[in-house]
Amino acid sequence: MKLSRILSNQNGVSRQQANALIAAGRAMVNGEVCTNASLDVDGFTTVAVDDNIIQPGSQARYLMLNKPAGYLSATVDAVHPTVLDLIAPDLRESLHIAGRLDRATTGLLILTNDGTWSRRLTEPRVRIPKVYRVTTAYPLSPDTEARFAAGIWFEYEQLTTSPAHIEQMDATNARLTIYEGRYHQVKRMFHAVGNRVVSLHREQMGAITLDGKLQPGEYRALSHQETQSIPRR
Ligand code: URA
Repeated sequence: MKLSRILSNQNGVSRQQANALIAAGRAMVNGEVCTNASLDVDGFTTVAVDDNIIQPGSQARYLMLNKPAGYLSATVDAVHPTVLDLIAPDLRESLHIAGRLDRATTGLLILTNDGTWSRRLTEPRVRIPKVYRVTTAYPLSPDTEARFAAGIWFEYEQLTTSPAHIEQMDATNARLTIYEGRYHQVKRMFHAVGNRVVSLHREQMGAITLDGKLQPGEYRALSHQETQSIPRR
């Protein structure tokens, strides 16, 4: 929301008065004077006029979890435990998942309360690489690499997946990099080349790598550097 709008949402302050306050250097954004009335301000930003806090700014939270198998990527479920059950109750509020994993999939799962940031991480057009370690039921066929690089046709969505890169480790183990996060994407890609995924583990999203010190079920806050590594546009 624009800064002038936040100020004019206050009882009795018109948009014109808000603009005048801002032009006079009386508006503070995160403790600094701001004279740009059209600055986009999110809910994590503190806004004040003189010494009066107009918007306290909630605390942004960014967590990386080493997701164990058996937990649903959901906030509530009547049957299965969810990844939120692994997070301390005082941190859970307003968290959502930035890029779900299937119940059996393990590894890097990111939870945050910052929707703008998580959209940048997950939107296919931003093309953040997601790296998975995959074990397949059958040896990888010789055409897998070329088929994945060319893109796989997904009938349901009527689209071809972005070129993906596969690095074969042995007959049935590979590291796969994809640039979207479509529904069951990795399983469907392997199914399309006549194979089947038997285990899947996410190692990385962009420059954020699963911390090797985290045991399954453990989590930690992302560092400033990790949160800043996701491009703004
Ligand atoms: N692709 C899948 O098929 N499953 C996951 O959990 C993640 C990516």
